[in-house]
Amino acid sequence: MKAVVRGGIGNEASVSVPGDKSISHRSLLLSLLASETYSVDGLSSALDVLATKDIVETLGVHISQEGSRIILRGVGFDISEPNDFLDVGNSGTLIRLISGVLAGSEGNTFFLKGDSSIGKRPMGRVIDPLTKMGAKIIGRGYSTLAPLGIVGTKLHGIDYEMPVASAQVKSAILFAGLNSSGTTTLVETVPTRAHTEEMLSQFGANLEVTRTPTANKISIEPSKLRPIDIKVPGDPSSAAFFVVLGLIGQCSIEVTDVYLGPQRDGFLKTLISMGGRIDLSDKGNGLGDIKSYPSELSGVVVGPDGTPDLIDEVPILGVAAAMARGRTEFLGVGELRHKESDRIATTCDMLASFGVDTGELDGGFYVDGIGHDPSKGVLESNGFVQEPRIVVSHYDHRIAMSGAILGALTQGETYIEGFESVETSFPTFVSVFRSCGFEIEVR
Ligand code: S3P
Repeated sequence: MKAVVRGGIGNEASVSVPGDKSISHRSLLLSLLASETYSVDGLSSALDVLATKDIVETLGVHISQEGSRIILRGVGFDISEPNDFLDVGNSGTLIRLISGVLAGSEGNTFFLKGDSSIGKRPMGRVIDPLTKMGAKIIGRGYSTLAPLGIVGTKLHGIDYEMPVASAQVKSAILFAGLNSSGTTTLVETVPTRAHTEEMLSQFGANLEVTRTPTANKISIEPSKLRPIDIKVPGDPSSAAFFVVLGLIGQCSIEVTDVYLGPQRDGFLKTLISMGGRIDLSDKGNGLGDIKSYPSELSGVVVGPDGTPDLIDEVPILGVAAAMARGRTEFLGVGELRHKESDRIATTCDMLASFGVDTGELDGGFYVDGIGHDPSKGVLESNGFVQEPRIVVSHYDHRIAMSGAILGALTQGETYIEGFESVETSFPTFVSVFRSCGFEIEVR
């Protein structure tokens, strides 16, 4: 499927984005661990999350809909063995997190598969620590790649220092630790998003987090969960597209009710350091509205520290960098090679299809911005190559949406191939884009 975006001026807008994807996945997966009933309000309807919903239902969780809420009747690790492959679609978060849940499901065998992108993403990073806990998991490529086969068995706690900064790996180990004998302790020297720790604590798990300036230590013991009702806040990774549009376009944009907690706000800090005018109104509980205003941006060095806090927003930060004055360097973002596509290559490729000067660096890339001044009229001043512009998304949702945002502010038409990928995280992207006054047609 292809999208055609026509460059334009847009209008001021106040928009909302789907529920946070990371929190939505975890809200569903907790129903495999907890044995009581709870509700989830504002769950994302992204395809990735629907894959998780389908899988937990297949594994025995009863789910019903009540208005904007779903009600889940948890199975408390009493999982039904499925008679077919569990299909995670495009979701790396799902395949990694659920491996930690299924590994300890004694007497049951599971097979996990996904799409062609999943088949290329590293799985050794979860298989290794789970195997140390006693798990029996095999995969292609000497157990480094999906599809995966898991024979559920009794697990035991381990002490583990994380070799990669990954919230997915951390979460898989914590889910497994909840159903293991003894204590599981893990240490991360680079902090990553803490949704799993936070949600497990809210559900009453016996979990302790010790933070020092150099590391976080998290310990978990087997415990019975006491579910609470969950309200899913808006997804900051989806909001980021419209925050950037407000900065580099000619009209301010507000995104309401977004999760603003630590480890997810790195893109906001970066955009502010580039000179972006952004107002944050904190509504408490890590929730707030973000309003961005047309701004003259300057290039900065992003990373190498703190990159997990903005890793999913790098493609759209690349778009902001293309409009900024001077060079922006993204350093220490090698993990992008292992996302839905090789996002160092595909972000550079997306920007290059507009004529932006960009290139790869060791573990990162640079973007030479055009120094556009929003007060002078976007379309006239950005000077990007003329039509036809064809962005190849490589079926990566974040590349497709980043291309649409840059296309919105570029004279003439931009074609984006593989636009259906947007459904994996942001099914309402087209309507939000239109409500900001831009033209997009999906064929
Ligand atoms: C996620 C963690 C991050 C992020 C991904 C979602 C999560 O991945 O890029 O989109 O929900 O735990 P890593 O754990 O690989 O860093």
